[in-house]
Amino acid sequence: MQNQIAQLREEIEREIAAVTNQQQLEEFRIKFLSRKGLIASLFDNLRNVPGVDKPIVGKQLNELRQRAQSVLDEKILQLKSKPKSAEHLDLTLPGRRKFRGTKHPLMQTLDEIKSIFVGMGFGIADGPEIEDDWHNFSALNFAPDHPARDMQDTFFVKGDILLRTHTSPVQIRIMENNKPPIRTIMPGRVYRNEAVSSRSLCNFYQVEGLAVDKGITFSELKGTLLSFARQFYGKDIKYRFRPSFFPFTEPSAEMDITCFICKGKGCRMCKQSGWLEILGCGMVDPNVFTSVGYDPEQYTGYAFGMGIERTAALLYGVDDIRLFYENDVRFLRQF
Ligand code: PHE
Repeated sequence: MQNQIAQLREEIEREIAAVTNQQQLEEFRIKFLSRKGLIASLFDNLRNVPGVDKPIVGKQLNELRQRAQSVLDEKILQLKSKPKSAEHLDLTLPGRRKFRGTKHPLMQTLDEIKSIFVGMGFGIADGPEIEDDWHNFSALNFAPDHPARDMQDTFFVKGDILLRTHTSPVQIRIMENNKPPIRTIMPGRVYRNEAVSSRSLCNFYQVEGLAVDKGITFSELKGTLLSFARQFYGKDIKYRFRPSFFPFTEPSAEMDITCFICKGKGCRMCKQSGWLEILGCGMVDPNVFTSVGYDPEQYTGYAFGMGIERTAALLYGVDDIRLFYENDVRFLRQF
């Protein structure tokens, strides 16, 4: 009898250790602790034990039942606290990716432009977005009846106060406050009273550049902008300067580069022309120097300007610049 008790005790310990779910737990309870279970049947056999041994065997049986009950209770608690998912842990499932924010593509483009010009010795400056007519137009040699002053292009705030239509007024502010030599780029937001479309916005970014010193020539303008274009768009691009007009530069030009998508063969991006227009530029008009108190006989300089949205659109092949302002993460995640 005592042997049976010892064996059963071993069996209980072994089997409870193997229990991992509710069903096995119930089977364990029925096998050992139910009314027809193994422990109960040993209690039945107690009848056949000789009188002298009864107390000690009875005590051992009671201990066995207590032990079985306590390991069962322990297991119940264990199974409860065990997180369900641990049973179904599938290590082959792909991880859950946390999306990190990134810099907006327009700011990435601007950063790249800035770092190229800083690498060529340019400083960075900014100016107010609310301007007066003098800095935005008059000092930049816009004739009083120039169409760009028309209500259609300019958002007026009050009287001659307006939202700047380009970053060129920052040129004026820098020259008013500094003596040459000057070599600075001026990024910032500009505003135009224009219909919004896939190619134009009423609020966008430009980067302006200005270099003024004694003896600056058009070839320095070309060399600087070509170096920029090669670093930014790729070193095998070809370029051309087309004559253009801006009131504040003379001569004025627009710079085109060969389309970096089709390498000049003609594609949707360059509208089959093989060329992409990337910026406006020119030699600072002597009238501009006069308005800021520089002597145009002593100093020459060049200026250039480009739109960031257009530049980013070209670089990333985006065909609608409004996408940059919709803040749709499906779009933004691609950069
Ligand atoms: N300010 C001009 C524009 O907005 C761009 C430009 C800047 C052209 C400097 C020449 C020199 O279109």
